[in-house]
Amino acid sequence: MQRVKIKQFVVELVKKHQYQTTRLLEMLRELQSRYYYIPSEAIEQIAELLQIPRTQIISVIEFYSFFHLSPRGQYHILISDSITDHMMGKLSLMDYMVEKLGVGIGEVRADGLVSLDNTSCTGLCDQGPAGLVNGYALTRLNKNKINLIADLINQHKPLEQWPQTLFQVDDNIYRAGLLLNCNMLPGDGLNAAFKRGLTETLDEIEYADLKGRGGAGFKTATKWLFCVEEKQTERYVVCNADEGEPGTFKDRVLLNSYADQVFEGMTLCAAIIGADQGFLYLRGEYLFLYNQIQQVLQQRRDQNLLGKGILGKAFSFDIEIRLGAGAYICGEETALIESLEGKQGIPRNRPPFPVTSGYLGKPTVVNNVETFIAASAIALHGGAWFANHGTRVSKGTKILSISGDCERPGIYEYPFGTNVQQILDECGSNDAMGVQIGGPSGSYVSDVEFERKLAFEDLSTGGSFIVFNRSRNMLDMVQNFTHFFAHESCGFCTPCRVGTSLLKKQLDKIYDGHGSAGDVVELERLCQLVNTTSHCGLGQTAANPILTTLQRYPEHYQQLLKTISYEPGFDLDAALQKTRELTGRDDAEAHLSQTGEKDEWHD
Ligand SMILES: Cc1cc2nc3c(=O)[nH]c(=O)nc-3n(C[C@H](O)[C@H](O)[C@H](O)COP(=O)(O)O)c2cc1C
Ligand code: SF4
Repeated sequence: MQRVKIKQFVVELVKKHQYQTTRLLEMLRELQSRYYYIPSEAIEQIAELLQIPRTQIISVIEFYSFFHLSPRGQYHILISDSITDHMMGKLSLMDYMVEKLGVGIGEVRADGLVSLDNTSCTGLCDQGPAGLVNGYALTRLNKNKINLIADLINQHKPLEQWPQTLFQVDDNIYRAGLLLNCNMLPGDGLNAAFKRGLTETLDEIEYADLKGRGGAGFKTATKWLFCVEEKQTERYVVCNADEGEPGTFKDRVLLNSYADQVFEGMTLCAAIIGADQGFLYLRGEYLFLYNQIQQVLQQRRDQNLLGKGILGKAFSFDIEIRLGAGAYICGEETALIESLEGKQGIPRNRPPFPVTSGYLGKPTVVNNVETFIAASAIALHGGAWFANHGTRVSKGTKILSISGDCERPGIYEYPFGTNVQQILDECGSNDAMGVQIGGPSGSYVSDVEFERKLAFEDLSTGGSFIVFNRSRNMLDMVQNFTHFFAHESCGFCTPCRVGTSLLKKQLDKIYDGHGSAGDVVELERLCQLVNTTSHCGLGQTAANPILTTLQRYPEHYQQLLKTISYEPGFDLDAALQKTRELTGRDDAEAHLSQTGEKDEWHD
């Protein structure tokens, strides 16, 4: 009976999604939320209806951490594993949760009601420890909230009846600048652009020297122009709201309070490049924003700002919001496009770049949320308004997500060129040992470098700014970031798939006090290998946390080393214990020594 019901549900589901393979993730998401996993009957049925191999669907399910082939609890709880959550006491809270809910980490309770696990950063570092219940964000977790959650679950209370305080997400904007103070009304940027002329508006964006805010800093006007110059007429605009870099949460705030301006920027881009369709790829962790930004879109449609006849022009454009499913790599633009096409988010070879061959092989512009906001503001105020701020190379402002050891974690907008010390003073940090800028793939800046500047030519960042005070153990951060990369490697290329897990193992060995000088040398060699031979940006930066801290703080590694030249990762002597017991021997000859005597590090 259940089998028949599942099949009926799938028939309706596939019909609703118009038999489009590109919408596979949407179908899987709906199945996951209804059955708490993707049943094999559903997989078979989708395969038949979409005429794709079963194995293709299974590989997609296995790729995304929010999809499961075996049942999760009716209440599936994930706790964020970001370093900032750890700094706010995540580990002891997790122990408490295990005790209160009666379920182990990575397990489903025997009654099937609840399951618990870790997840990568949920984009709530300013209000952690954070988590998700059935995909919805939980903030500022503490023991009282966990008691309440356990009661609500045991009473089988539907999520809609849980107190809203559990789900409260604050913007925490502490410093607004050019963009956050812009106060644009829907249509302002487009009106100005059409009045000035679209080519002239692209010239203004060029004059503003707007560079992409997602991390790589590619010139926005150049990207749009490349797309315009492509011969194919079917073109796409994609807003990258995947925001998976630990410590980054500014796009969450921009979409919560400035969504209309994001859509304005996307529409402007569509008008300039000649696109009919746009996508906003929203990370699955921001499910709580989904309905409200759908409403913003609908209002724009109602105001006739989108769709045919926009502002009197024969121009049709609409935007669809697509949700990710828990894969950091999908922030990489080509992996994101693969994901939009309903596939595993494996980065493509570049070239060709998305502007030439993107979504469905058509010219596609992919930009960050903040980039689209800046473009719409430039359309209204002109290029000079923007270019008058910042440095010679880095114009305008940057919106930062500040978290960690400071009194006021939240959102801060600074002109490029602002130094780290000023930012620390303003967010309430007076005991900083260092700052991780740009997330795990970025750079660690120590207290002797606080005069360095926020700028593409000095400290470039997608927005993450995590403060560590002097009470912190630097290697906790390095270990957390290294585990993150090993977990998030998409597994496509060997240097990253194998390399990140070797880095994790080697670092753990040193962290746990079993490392020798030789292990540090080997660790550094591995870092170079992973960084130089990996296929995409994830692998190419995965060793940065180790390399930058090894350079600056060798003593932190040194003090953990054993005074031997080498200790193997596998304990041969312990493995022989069973044999010793069986033979009744425990003399010196029955033991093996595998460690060297020399201490190269201290030589
Ligand atoms: C592993 C990885 C993750 C990324 N995550 C994001 C992201 O979450 N948001 C984003 O805008 N760009 C991200 N990027 C950069 C994108 O590939 C791309 O450069 C960017 O979306 C372009 O937009 P922009 O020019 O406006 O910066 C990521 C890159 C890599 C290698
Ligand atoms: S570098 Fe890592 S994330 Fe990138 S393609 Fe290779 S395995 Fe995937």
